[in-house]
Amino acid sequence: MKAKENPFKPTAGGEPPLLIGRGKVIRDFEKGLDNGVGAPGRIMLVTGARGTGKTVMLTVFGDRAKARRWDVIEETASAGLCERLVDALRTGRGALDHLTIRPSLTFAGAGIGLGEAELSPKRMPETLRSAIAGRLDALEKRHAGLLITIDETQAAERSDMIAIATAIQHQIRERRNIAIVFAGLPQMISDLFNDEVITFLRRAKTNILTDIPLDEVRDAFATTFRASGMSITDAQLSTAANVTAGYPYMIQLVGYHIWDAADMRDSDTIIDADVTAGIEEARIDLDNAVCIPELQGLSKNDREYLEAMAASDGPSPTVNVAQRMGKTPNYAATYRKRLLDAFVIRETERGEVDFAVPFLREYLRRNQ
Ligand SMILES: Nc1ncnc2c1ncn2[C@@H]1O[C@H](COP(=O)(O)OP(=O)(O)OP(=O)(O)O)[C@@H](O)[C@H]1O
Ligand SMILES: [Mg+2]
Repeated sequence: MKAKENPFKPTAGGEPPLLIGRGKVIRDFEKGLDNGVGAPGRIMLVTGARGTGKTVMLTVFGDRAKARRWDVIEETASAGLCERLVDALRTGRGALDHLTIRPSLTFAGAGIGLGEAELSPKRMPETLRSAIAGRLDALEKRHAGLLITIDETQAAERSDMIAIATAIQHQIRERRNIAIVFAGLPQMISDLFNDEVITFLRRAKTNILTDIPLDEVRDAFATTFRASGMSITDAQLSTAANVTAGYPYMIQLVGYHIWDAADMRDSDTIIDADVTAGIEEARIDLDNAVCIPELQGLSKNDREYLEAMAASDGPSPTVNVAQRMGKTPNYAATYRKRLLDAFVIRETERGEVDFAVPFLREYLRRNQ
C-alpha cells in the first residue's frame, strides 16, 4: 500500500477534515452575519469543556466571515489582550486584501508609537473604541464588516473584558457592521454574568458545545475511513464510535490510532485487532493530554472526593459523596467547593455534582 496521510487530526485547534455535529451553531453564526446589524448571532459566546472544539469553531466562523469578504481578527485572552487588539485594528492585520486598508495610524514599526496614557486601563475603552471605529470606516467603503474572535475567554482580565464590552456595545448602538465571538471554558459564563459592568454581554447568543450524537460520529468515521481508501466494517465503526462518547478530541484520537494501526501493517483493511489497539492508544493519549494534567494541581483530599464521585455512573448527591468518603458533609463541602472552582466538577440542575472533565470518571476507576 502506498503511503497515505492519516485523515484524523488529534491536535488542539486542528481543523478536522469532517466537522461533525456543529451545523446548528454554524447556522446561528451565519444568520448573524447575513441578517444584518442587530441580529442576535452577532455577539456570541461559545463554551464547552476542554477538547469539545471551541477553537475549531472559531476557525470555522472566521472562514465563513472571510467568505463574505469580512476582515477577521483572531485573538487569545491573556495579559495585554486589548493592546494586541488595538495593534491589529490599526495595522490592518486580519484584512483580506491589505491594499484596500489604510490604517488611520501605523502603530508598530513606523516609530509613531502610542502614548502610554492611551494604553492605560483607564483610557483603554476609548482607545479600543476609536481603533474599531477607524477600521470599520475603512471597511464600510467596501460594504464589509469586521469579525473579532477571542479564544480562552475564561483567562481574560476583567479590565480587558470591560474595555471590549464597552467598545462593542458602542459600535452596535451606532449600527456598525461588526460581530464578536468569545470562546472559553464554561466558567467564563458565570464570571461574565455575575459582573455588573459587563451586563451587556448577557444578551449574547450562547452556544454550549456538547457531545456529538453517536450515529453522527459513526457516519463521520465511515465517510472518513472509506474516503481515505480504508475498508472498515459496520461493527468496527460502531465499536469505535461508542468508545468516543461523542467527545470531539476522543473522536480524532480513536480515528487516528485505528487508521494508524492498519497503516503500520501496510494494509488498507481494518481488522478487529487494529480497532482494539487503536482504542487503547487513544485512551493513553487522552489520559496524558486531559486527565493527568487536570489531576496534577489537586491535593490528595481533592482526589479522594473525585474517587468517591467515580463510584457512581452519573451525578452524585453531595451527601452520598461525603458518606462514601466516611466524612461529615461539612468536610466534603470544602472539597466540593475547591473542585467546583477548579472546574473539575460541575453542579447539575438538581444540585448534584458530576464530572466536568470528559473521561475523568473512567480514568479514576482504572487508576484507583
Ligand atoms: N465538530 C468536530 N468534529 C470532529 N472533530 C472535532 C470537532 N470539533 C473539534 N474536533 C477535534 O477535537 C479536538 C479538539 O478541538 P479544539 O482544540 O478546537 O477544542 P477546544 O474546545 O478549543 O479545546 P481547549 O479547551 O483545550 O482549547 C481537535 O483535534 C479537533 O480536530
Ligand atoms: Mg481551544
